Amino acid sequence: MSKQTVLTGITTSGTPHLGNYVGAIKPAIAASKNPDVSSYYFLADYHALVKCGDPERVRQSTLEIAATWLALGLDTADAVFYRQSDIPEIPELTWFLTCSTAKGLMNRSHAYKAAVQDNLNAKEDPDYGINMGLFNYPILMTADILMFNAHKVPVGKDQLQHLEMARDIAARFNHQYGDYFVLPEAVVDESTKLIPGQDGRKMSKSYNNTIPLWLPEKKLRKAIMKIKTNSLEPGEPKDPEDSTLLTIYSAFASPEQRAEMVQAYDDGIAWGAAKQIVFEHINAELSEARERYTELVANPVIIEAELLKGAESAREYATPLMQKLRAAVGIRALI
Ligand code: TRP
Repeated sequence: MSKQTVLTGITTSGTPHLGNYVGAIKPAIAASKNPDVSSYYFLADYHALVKCGDPERVRQSTLEIAATWLALGLDTADAVFYRQSDIPEIPELTWFLTCSTAKGLMNRSHAYKAAVQDNLNAKEDPDYGINMGLFNYPILMTADILMFNAHKVPVGKDQLQHLEMARDIAARFNHQYGDYFVLPEAVVDESTKLIPGQDGRKMSKSYNNTIPLWLPEKKLRKAIMKIKTNSLEPGEPKDPEDSTLLTIYSAFASPEQRAEMVQAYDDGIAWGAAKQIVFEHINAELSEARERYTELVANPVIIEAELLKGAESAREYATPLMQKLRAAVGIRALI
């Protein structure tokens, strides 16, 4: 069997948080060491423009997310690591796909429908504040994936619909023009750790409950101390089934360490003491990488060089494929 291609991207519209780390970046870096797969990991900066009109924030987020992958040990010999906007073939493919995608398919997009629903609830015009980037978002994401004929796309559950759309769009293009695209499959690893934020809901920028990954030690401690618990006193047994703190700890700790914590809950550990253990554990896991991260952010030249090298490798695949696709749709020299 030929090598499988695995591809995933992170939108560069915010600061990386613990949820990005345990849910996406850490498993992706581990997977890139597998010699049987080609990994493509990228910074989705075109996607960032859909939600974020603040140029400085897009730039800063791109820098921080790139530095994060490298600081956490992504070896760019193991994965093609690039910035979406360095691959001009991606917007070109986006247009080709846009022209063979049914508008009705996009009308069904959850993200778009939710934005319309919010407007209706607020008694606004249904289109209020909705840009075409939001509407077309799934086509751009499809181009990201099809551009490298990825077989597997690790994503969070919230992205499953986008992967179904990518398959639909690929199949339709293949049907119309010939067999150019692999139909990609989503990989939602159930064991992949999804962690709640400080308030117990999914850790997400939109809920404002994230713990940034690279907080300096003291602030990290403070953020962990703020994780919501209940008012049980020291000495009273705590319920491990309903504890945001334990869920977060579990994403970092070994099964044995988790079991010890469950025992401590049963023994009535004070919340402050439990939080201190969680802080020390997470801090120990991150502290070396934090130093590398700080150094990288201060030296963007190193990051930029990595990204340009990655773009070159990515285009070794994308440019010839795009050439074929242009010919396939009838855009080619006349003689
Ligand atoms: N939409 C994804 C997210 O918000 C990011 C993304 C953009 C992506 N293009 C992609 C993920 C292609 C996987 C493959 O999480």
